[in-house]
Amino acid sequence: MRHFLNTSDWTRPELQALIDDARLLKESPHGDALEGKTIALLFLNNSLRTRTSFDVGARHLGGHAIVLSPSGGMWPLEFEDGVVMDGEAEEHVRDAAKVLSRYCDLIGIRAFPKFESWEEDRKDRILNAFAAHSEVPVINMETITHPCQEMAHLMALQERLGPLDGKKYVLTWSYHPKPLNTAVANSALMIAAKFGMDVTLLCPTDDYILDKRYMTIASKDAEANGRSVTVTHDPGAAYGGADIVYAKSWGALPYFGNWDAEKPIRDRYKDFIVDEDKMALTDSAVVSHCLPMRRNLIMTDGVFDGPNCFAYDEAENRLHVQKAIMKRLVEAG
Ligand code: CP
Repeated sequence: MRHFLNTSDWTRPELQALIDDARLLKESPHGDALEGKTIALLFLNNSLRTRTSFDVGARHLGGHAIVLSPSGGMWPLEFEDGVVMDGEAEEHVRDAAKVLSRYCDLIGIRAFPKFESWEEDRKDRILNAFAAHSEVPVINMETITHPCQEMAHLMALQERLGPLDGKKYVLTWSYHPKPLNTAVANSALMIAAKFGMDVTLLCPTDDYILDKRYMTIASKDAEANGRSVTVTHDPGAAYGGADIVYAKSWGALPYFGNWDAEKPIRDRYKDFIVDEDKMALTDSAVVSHCLPMRRNLIMTDGVFDGPNCFAYDEAENRLHVQKAIMKRLVEAG
């Protein structure tokens, strides 16, 4: 049995095969690959795209999705092993995963960090607990990485630019009033490096460098492809000659749980917005964001609504790549 937890567990040819299948599913959306199959979608956090695209995608292939969330009547879950369950949780993840496996053929999990301790959050306990105890494949619908978003992003990049080897890929931190999850940034870094791009991480200070786990995976993949991962705090150097700009905001890892101290730092960098002046430094770069996005904070309307922005294509591709992923996991048994 194979899970889809992180793209680092899958080879580049395996991921490309999923993208190739997603392209076929985009041309011919309906089929019976999931006939009689059910996916449980467990959302511990909000969603628009993920929830809709998994549900619609399962239906397109003859399957069915059930959305579960604690606010929607699910029992509160305990994720720690060996604890006396005398708190709020009514059910242990071991039991929930086993029982869902008896009803469903796939389980999707969305579980963001708690934003109190990065050392705890980086263990990705909820996803890993479901993967350990489920008897059916588990799909990461965003925890501390967002592999489905990575795949949609990659597919849209290939649609726009064709072969990606050697392209200058800039992942830029951008201002948001709240400290957000690093999941999409971790994912963007890894998929760009894995697919042969020269990656530049642009962020305001060293505090905004991503977790060493993902920096290392990306650096090793880049090196294997004869490329590199570079960190800069200089927007001019990053945007210069870029082929791709991907914008995302995230909280500084050293400040997890100490956000009042981080706020004055992030507030100094509102000028990291993706705007027309910075894009003019690029090599007519294409640009995107995973959405949801605060307009005119992360990116100006002019850039987002311009012809080089492919954010809606990327969002659409969530549907196609997730169908390919569900199909592949079900076929693998
Ligand atoms: N990009 C993304 O995962 O969107 P949602 O949070 O709306 O699912």
